[in-house]
Amino acid sequence: MAKKTCIERIPEPEVMDDSEEAGVYDAADFNRVNRSCARRVCKLLGTDRGHALDLGTGPAEIPIRICTLEPGWKITAVDASPSMLRLARRRVKEAGLEKRIRLLRADAKKLRQLRRSFSAVFSNSLLHHLHDPAPFWKEIKRLGLPGASVMIQDLRRPASKAKARKLTRLHTAGAPPLLKQLFYQSLLAAFTPAEVRAQLCAAGLDLKVRATTDRHLVASGRL
Ligand SMILES: C[S@@+](CC[C@H](N)C(=O)[O-])C[C@H]1O[C@@H](n2cnc3c(N)ncnc32)[C@H](O)[C@@H]1O
Repeated sequence: MAKKTCIERIPEPEVMDDSEEAGVYDAADFNRVNRSCARRVCKLLGTDRGHALDLGTGPAEIPIRICTLEPGWKITAVDASPSMLRLARRRVKEAGLEKRIRLLRADAKKLRQLRRSFSAVFSNSLLHHLHDPAPFWKEIKRLGLPGASVMIQDLRRPASKAKARKLTRLHTAGAPPLLKQLFYQSLLAAFTPAEVRAQLCAAGLDLKVRATTDRHLVASGRL
């Protein structure tokens, strides 16, 4: 029998619309991950102006960082959760970026109100929420202009529940119990790099997938 290399995926609820969950997520310190994600996107952008699409923006911390680093960019930031969008609206206003960050309540798998117009598409930590990621990849392919930069970062599923518990202890030390639980569940819901490669192949997207940290993967490249 073939050796089992990874635990089975356990999907979690797709949209984070519980206001307690949204609040605990918003209050958490994701500074390092968000900073490196924003820098990675900025590095990929390659030009000094354009219009980017952020899928599953949550409290909009990453688009705010990108707009601060890249004064020529505008961002359409999508989330399906009204609770998250309330937090995002407040943060965007506080940052004085209402003219550059457009917040949109929509399902990232079905963005009929948007047309192909984006020079970059990015997302952090949405992919593992999706029960079926095929329509998400299809929308990225449909909405990005030819040559658009794509950077999708997410967690990757560890080989065992023991490893998931170890990563949770390591990366959520001092965090509230609800955040620890969400992080553990997200690790179990995440895809492996091999699964993401298979999704991209099925979607006809030529992006490179790499494990970037002990818990992250990145799919990136150009359309
Ligand atoms: C873990 S949070 C990540 C938020 C943000 N990208 C960040 O890195 O801080 C995932 C977000 O994706 C949103 N989401 C989940 N499924 C979605 C869908 N189908 N369409 C749009 N947003 C979705 C959730 O509501 C949540 O705000």
